[in-house]
Amino acid sequence: MSAFTYRGGVLHAEDVSVETLAEEQGTPLYIYSRSHLIEQYKALAAAMKPVKPSIYFAIKSNSNLAVIRTLADQGAGADVVSGGELYRARQAGVPADRIVFAGVGKTAEEIDYALREDIKFFTVESEPELERIAGRAKAMGRIGRVAIRVNPDVDPHTHKYTSTGKAENKFGVDLTRAERAYELALRQDGLEVAGLHMHLGSPIMSPTPYAEALEKVKPLCESLKREVETFRHLDIGGGLGISYSPDQAPLNPRDFAAAVLPALHDLGLKVGMEPGRFITGNAGILVTRVQYIKDNPFKKFVIVDAAMNDLLRPPLYDAHHEIVPVRQTEETFFGDVVGPICESGDFMAQGRELSAVDQGDLMAILSAGAYGFVMASNYNTRGRAAEVMVSGDRVEVVRERETWEDLVRGERMPEW
Ligand SMILES: Cc1ncc(COP(=O)(O)O)c(C=O)c1O
Repeated sequence: MSAFTYRGGVLHAEDVSVETLAEEQGTPLYIYSRSHLIEQYKALAAAMKPVKPSIYFAIKSNSNLAVIRTLADQGAGADVVSGGELYRARQAGVPADRIVFAGVGKTAEEIDYALREDIKFFTVESEPELERIAGRAKAMGRIGRVAIRVNPDVDPHTHKYTSTGKAENKFGVDLTRAERAYELALRQDGLEVAGLHMHLGSPIMSPTPYAEALEKVKPLCESLKREVETFRHLDIGGGLGISYSPDQAPLNPRDFAAAVLPALHDLGLKVGMEPGRFITGNAGILVTRVQYIKDNPFKKFVIVDAAMNDLLRPPLYDAHHEIVPVRQTEETFFGDVVGPICESGDFMAQGRELSAVDQGDLMAILSAGAYGFVMASNYNTRGRAAEVMVSGDRVEVVRERETWEDLVRGERMPEW
């Protein structure tokens, strides 16, 4: 159920008026619903209950400490892709033995940090990375637990920038070379071979690619399970799609479970999952205020105070986000919703029929909880938006709006 609904013609986040929040906190403003985060987490955990998966929340989708903590309190772990994300996960209270570390370019410093924290396992993306983890672990007198990320060459049917499990992508070790990579891992003193990992891409709207990928990695998993005593984990990644528009059906967790559970049952390994967007996507909106309405001979532009530095998904992925008025109206207009940044790529919607708004009105950009604030930048020296979390009628500012002072902090002017 959506956490963002109209009451008396005004958009609410759970029990709180979005209009009031925008007046109190200013705009642009990210608003997150705590109950939606928890509902999504529980829906996935319930559908997958027969294999009792470890759910490592992909904190790249939304790494606010309050969001991570909300999910950790439900039992979630964390899927991290940098030393910074590992630090965040630990700050939010995720136990180290519920953290997995992915990414193609882990530095020695990041590996050392993860080894010191004694995380659950690294998901390893190449042979040189295996050797580096082994070397660092040996030098520190520790053991690096590893799950090799196998690239099953399955098409997830998503945007080319977010497709990761095809042969041409930079991620993981090709299935044909995976056996050799495991042999290399088994020869290293500093390593323990803990499992196999895959992640196909995102957002994936059908369970079929997951089922196909499982069929492909099954023989390898079976032989590793037979031959390697420590090989116990199969992490099937994230990527579960959500609905970004009323006519788009989300990937239903029950359909997903029905497609993957038979193979997972047969394998009898401990199952891990790394959902990000599925949990956070529709838990967040970005609220923005209309600054100007500009009619040029060809087009109408609604110029708002949110920009591509706040939400990059539309220009980066051609992503669709529903945009609704905070105060409901019957009138509509046709045109673009754009930000103030000096780029033609600075748009939130192009050539769309949307509810009519006037200068000063508030609009809400929906489905902005995943890959929204986390991709925000300071381009055009714009401070990043504030983030608030709502729970029922309670509100907490979970990240302060950046000030102009924040924006120049750390910069130096050379004496010369
Ligand atoms: C390795 C890995 N796991 C999980 C995810 C999370 O994907 P999503 O947010 O679509 O669930 C990603 C996304 O890039 C990823 O690269």
